[in-house]
Amino acid sequence: MLEVFPLPVLLQERAAEQVGCKAQPDSPSAPQPAVSLEQDMFPKHFMTAARISRRASLQCCRPRFVVQTASKCQKAIQTAKGYAELPSAAERGRWVAEKEQLTEERLDIEGHPVMQRWETPYMGKLAEVATRNGGRVVEVGFGMAISAKAVQSYPIEEHIILEANRDVFKRLEDFAKGATSKVTPMGPELWQTSIKRIPDNSVDGILYDTYPLNKEEQHTHQFDFLREARRILKPGGIMTYCNLTSLGVLRHEYASWDELFEATQKPHLLAAGYHADELLVEAFPVEPPKDCEYYSHDTAMVPIIRKRGNASRHSSHSLGGRRSFSSWHQQQSPWRGQRSFGTEVNHAAAQHKMRPKADGRKLNAWTQWGELKECVVGVADNACFPPVQPAMIPEINDPVLRKVLGEWPRGRKSQRCVDAANEELDNLVNVLEGEGVKTLRPEVMDWSQPLKTPFFSVENQYVACCVRDTIITVGKTAIEATMSRRDRYFEILAVRQILRDLWREDPEMLWKAAPKPSMADDMYNLSWWDWTEKDRYEHMHKYQYCITNEEPLFDAADITRCGKDIFVQPSMTCNYAGIEWLRRELAPQGIRVHSAHFPYDLAPSHIDCTFVVLGPRLVLTNPERPIAARDAAFWKENGWDFVDCGQPDNPERPAFSQSSKWLSMNIFVIGPSKVIVEEQEKGLQELLKHRCGFETVIPVPFRNVFEYGGSLHCSTWDTCREDDMVDLFPKQRDDDPALFEQHLS
Ligand SMILES: C[S@@+](CC[C@H](N)C(=O)[O-])C[C@H]1O[C@@H](n2cnc3c(N)ncnc32)[C@H](O)[C@@H]1O
Repeated sequence: MLEVFPLPVLLQERAAEQVGCKAQPDSPSAPQPAVSLEQDMFPKHFMTAARISRRASLQCCRPRFVVQTASKCQKAIQTAKGYAELPSAAERGRWVAEKEQLTEERLDIEGHPVMQRWETPYMGKLAEVATRNGGRVVEVGFGMAISAKAVQSYPIEEHIILEANRDVFKRLEDFAKGATSKVTPMGPELWQTSIKRIPDNSVDGILYDTYPLNKEEQHTHQFDFLREARRILKPGGIMTYCNLTSLGVLRHEYASWDELFEATQKPHLLAAGYHADELLVEAFPVEPPKDCEYYSHDTAMVPIIRKRGNASRHSSHSLGGRRSFSSWHQQQSPWRGQRSFGTEVNHAAAQHKMRPKADGRKLNAWTQWGELKECVVGVADNACFPPVQPAMIPEINDPVLRKVLGEWPRGRKSQRCVDAANEELDNLVNVLEGEGVKTLRPEVMDWSQPLKTPFFSVENQYVACCVRDTIITVGKTAIEATMSRRDRYFEILAVRQILRDLWREDPEMLWKAAPKPSMADDMYNLSWWDWTEKDRYEHMHKYQYCITNEEPLFDAADITRCGKDIFVQPSMTCNYAGIEWLRRELAPQGIRVHSAHFPYDLAPSHIDCTFVVLGPRLVLTNPERPIAARDAAFWKENGWDFVDCGQPDNPERPAFSQSSKWLSMNIFVIGPSKVIVEEQEKGLQELLKHRCGFETVIPVPFRNVFEYGGSLHCSTWDTCREDDMVDLFPKQRDDDPALFEQHLS
């Protein structure tokens, strides 16, 4: 039995919301369930999945209740059945002869609400997905022709529509006569029959949207179709489906679409022969009317399933150039970015013979400013609070929250906080794609899992939002960082599939991983956290921080690229042994590794909020953290200019952010005269335009991502820029040997 609690309005509520759990009631007695949903509303296997997911959430450090407002509880009951009663064990064939009741707003058959007009934007989204490859598109279920019209608004070659109901089919035949692209109606018969006539590997896209024809198949009819869909899809073909009659019910059971998909859809997809790395999902905003019998949520799920292999190149709207926006597309969600749901490694792929792919993808980035062609944008899914550890003793910035919560929170961050960051990350994807940059996303992984190695354990991991910290492209080499925090030890796994794909496709790419550190206690200077401010000032110019030099340690964001020369900052996240490792690894390729010191930063971490290379011979510098005089001289000798960044327009930090106000400087240069900047940093935008020569300055909202310790540069990993191994430091000099000796001896 699922217990649904009314949301108590308590003083602590705001604080509790921030950490993703229900506030503790003031009263000593436990809250009473307001409503119980009957178990028999759910087929057995869904209940099992629901129990598993609830058990998983109980294992979190803090309990996560299913929290709903009283009015939502009523809505849950109303829509828990999803529709008016379907007959049990009814024979499907009867559907063909049933009369339709059609109005402008809805289609009813046999008294069931089969389709309604409010779904129009959602149908437009499904059509956009199914037509991404152009070519031959199969649609199953004609209904009110809403999705069919949307499919027709894209440049496709053929539109095959399968429909069972005779009345609906008559309308389909009329529709075919006036359609822009060729329509081939198949019916009136059940898809279970007509699909057999569609040959293997023959279609480029599929949109499946039918209706359960009896009670038993309410949650499952799409899965019967999925196996057939895989058979008829060409390699690289794309499929999407919807079953609101089921999802409207199941969504009440899960905290997010991710959880729902993992528990109730993915197992069936895998059983139907799909691979985890073929599965993606997006949420799409919808507005069902209050009296809708089958749906009451404000988002709907858009599965995006792409069969492995290369798509054939038709005149598709997603291949090359920008889309031609029709009224359908204008209704698209701002959350267009895709997130993969697969976390399983595909061992079968590794057995394939490797050969370069025809489209010639490559890994290449020598500078911070070359024209950006491809990049990875992080995701905030399943984010957790970083646990207290030797590399980080986090603090709550907001004094009110600090008082209310008492201690640093543990476990998962709130879904609201994750969603807000994801919305901004997805918007960045849109902006980049609009600028012609191909974007990739990390795998969604469960970071709430604890980690135990022979040397340490942490109660949970972090998030794959700041991909920049985990990996860097240096020329034609991808270098996995050691990382410096224990909770980020395996964060690199979120981009593992991307690395594998790139490496297989680009025969020139080198793939290196720095030695995995033990992260044992002796790698940290545990007393550092007890130092007073005075102590820290005393050590500041010696560059002594919370990590020791036992083994190489670095986060990739401690590095910046200028062609043949790269610069690395010793910091809280990078030691001299890490810099030395990079130097030895890269020297054979002719890449010169230099250290860059910032002696006025008490707790430096990541160079991209301190010293931001904007272009050849131009650096944006932090007025409070000047580069050491010896280092500055080296840059100046080689003709580089420094431009001081002004104070941030908005210096505020989110309550749980462990980064400084200087995230304002964490901009993303995407071409020789194009840069993306947080939208509130107006002063910096002006500076970049008028003093630094950027012709295009693109403001984007990104403050919700600050919570995760990074901004625009941190949350991206540039896999391909159009640039070369330029030499901008013809006057070379050695790093200060005394410093290295002092730290490494
Ligand atoms: C939800 S409506 C489709 C709505 C449509 N996407 C639109 O935008 O208007 C479902 C349609 O699937 C048809 N249908 C249901 N079961 C079917 C089956 N087994 N084979 C073929 N069509 C089926 C119904 O008759 C109905 O027209």
